[in-house]
Amino acid sequence: MDIKAKAREILANMSLSEKLGQITQVSYTGQPVEEMREVIHKIQPGSLILCGSALGGVDQQNAVSREAINTLQKIALEETGNKIPILFGRDVIHGHRVAFPVPLTMTASWDFDYIEKSYDAIREEAINDGVKWTFTPMLDMYREHRWGRIVEGTGEDPYLGGEMAKAVVKGVQTADPAAPRAMLACAKHFVGYGASEGGRDYNHTEISDYAMQNYYLPAFRAAVDAGCATVMSSFNEINGIPTTGDKRVMTGYLRDQMGFEGFVVSDWEAIAQMHLFSGFAESPAEAARLSLAAGVDMDMMDNYFLDYVGELVTEGKLSVEELDTAVLRILETKLRYGLFANPYIDDQPYDLEKHMDMAQKMAEKSIVLLKNEKKLLPLKKGARIGIAGPMARCGSDLVGTWALDFDPALSRDAADALAEKFDLIPLGEADYRTLYRDNLEACVVMLGETRKVTGEATALVDIGIPADQLAVVERLKKLGKPVIGVFCFARPISFGEYDRLFDAILYAGHGGTRAAEAIAAILAGDAQPEGRLPFTLPYHQGQLPLYYNALPGSRKINGYYGDMVPALSNYCDATGTPNYPFGYGLSYTEFEISEITAETEVSAADLEAGKTFDLAVQVKNVGDGAGVAVPQLYVRDLFGSRIRPLRSLRGHKKLALEAGEEKTVTFTLGKADLGYYLEDGSFILEAGEFDIFIGENCLTENRIRVTVK
Ligand code: GLC
Repeated sequence: MDIKAKAREILANMSLSEKLGQITQVSYTGQPVEEMREVIHKIQPGSLILCGSALGGVDQQNAVSREAINTLQKIALEETGNKIPILFGRDVIHGHRVAFPVPLTMTASWDFDYIEKSYDAIREEAINDGVKWTFTPMLDMYREHRWGRIVEGTGEDPYLGGEMAKAVVKGVQTADPAAPRAMLACAKHFVGYGASEGGRDYNHTEISDYAMQNYYLPAFRAAVDAGCATVMSSFNEINGIPTTGDKRVMTGYLRDQMGFEGFVVSDWEAIAQMHLFSGFAESPAEAARLSLAAGVDMDMMDNYFLDYVGELVTEGKLSVEELDTAVLRILETKLRYGLFANPYIDDQPYDLEKHMDMAQKMAEKSIVLLKNEKKLLPLKKGARIGIAGPMARCGSDLVGTWALDFDPALSRDAADALAEKFDLIPLGEADYRTLYRDNLEACVVMLGETRKVTGEATALVDIGIPADQLAVVERLKKLGKPVIGVFCFARPISFGEYDRLFDAILYAGHGGTRAAEAIAAILAGDAQPEGRLPFTLPYHQGQLPLYYNALPGSRKINGYYGDMVPALSNYCDATGTPNYPFGYGLSYTEFEISEITAETEVSAADLEAGKTFDLAVQVKNVGDGAGVAVPQLYVRDLFGSRIRPLRSLRGHKKLALEAGEEKTVTFTLGKADLGYYLEDGSFILEAGEFDIFIGENCLTENRIRVTVK
């Protein structure tokens, strides 16, 4: 079918008011059918969002039902003039009935094949409840550990952001986006929301064009290249212009530079905010005009398009072409993703048990082993272990934020999951004087944050271990037994000065419905820790912002890499180095990565012509047990017309190796890996010297110098 021609044919039969409805999204939260019939007859909305509050991830949302959605769809198709199917959207961010780990925790797996499979399972559940459109992946790069929404994203690196974008889009939209059970993905928030100053949500963002092109945009480029159906605008402003009203962003970056062909939906009331709070649009009509002209095609929840675009067109302040462009993008997307052909959702039961097992495996893969003194872990099954800390019994907190439909009955407390593996002794206040303390093998203390301090409209000024939790650890230390910290913080926290309290540390994040079982499996050695940090763990929060892909300073101050003159670069009261660096993670075994073999001279002309070159290493398991290695490749362009980052992650592999097993791992690099974007969005490769590192985290010194001539 010629989608553009078909869309034009439908458009030709639409009245002005039908066009205004098509670019409007209103909410459906289970209101009576009669009430919704009136809304559908009156507005003929292009979309209904299955969410009743601006804080969908925090407030409880009504469950969705396939039957109710099909009923409303029938009204739209059989009782209205234009018979255009409604697109039903909901925030299915990291799970539906079964919650997978929150996206930031999931990214710690660096296992994007499994993440794609996870989102395919999530799709199976959500589509069966009638959800056709989900507002994920969230691709906001950040520089602020204080921002609560970093847990919805993919960490501090654009390469991981791009890998996540591809995995989520493919898992949600399937190989055939027109298939009846495929969903539409939505890359958000476009763009730069993660730079909200002070980590305070909805705050000012200051982003240079250079950082925009090379740090904030790349994950969205990957989403667009993966065929992501829709994009959502962001609440922040750039250069004093809210993205939702900025043509340079919504059209310049997204369409002209990236070639995006789907449609853009504003974030919740983001159009109205430009008038109500930002002081950018003098009137609601002006806010509507600026947004539509900028390239926003659908208005989420404030009805500014519905109420003002008609009058703007009549007055000639917006052209009919501008209105039609937005309508056509929505119609083309609905045609391209099979909504006209398959507007109704039938019941296709899925295997809940299988999804639960997948969620557990995803959570196991996402756990990062930070420390394991004297190979304390894994613990022997049946061993007598003390358990303490607030996250040992924390209800649904391990499910994480933005889990609108998870079934609490499917998840358990960690203490119960651990009790199946070990002779578990709860170490409450009174227990310290019991006889148990004499033959405890170790104490597990489960620290963390509740889901309520992560996600939208949350931020913390203190990202250290809370004082009451530290007090638990200090008390535990008195038992004189090894202390194993299980950190259920969804965001990265600072605990450098307290690291010494722990003999072993697992960073478990918010692991979803089966977080408890995953933690128990790793502690008992039934699963291998294979996670790697997708973010920096600062030594002290006063160091923030502190991130691995920093630009070199004007003097030797690169404390992240120890490349510093202490007198110049250290704080007087702390170091400039992180507690644990980006990419860091241990295994229950050890690996060795050989020197790199590669051409040391590569022709720029060949690279410009699309040729690539290989770099190989041997990865060997030199420990006494199986494990999963995650060799990572980093690039440093030593000189450029723009200062280039000290390291940029440009590749990674995951490989399971038995004890003693060795494998050759080959990375292939091309222009896209060595070049960078200029402010105007053009991509350049400059000849010169590059250091290429392959190692177990960003601090590796295993390097080879390649000259591009
Ligand atoms: C919220 C969030 C966005 C979400 C949307 C719908 O304000 O910013 O991520 O998808 O509104 O709930």
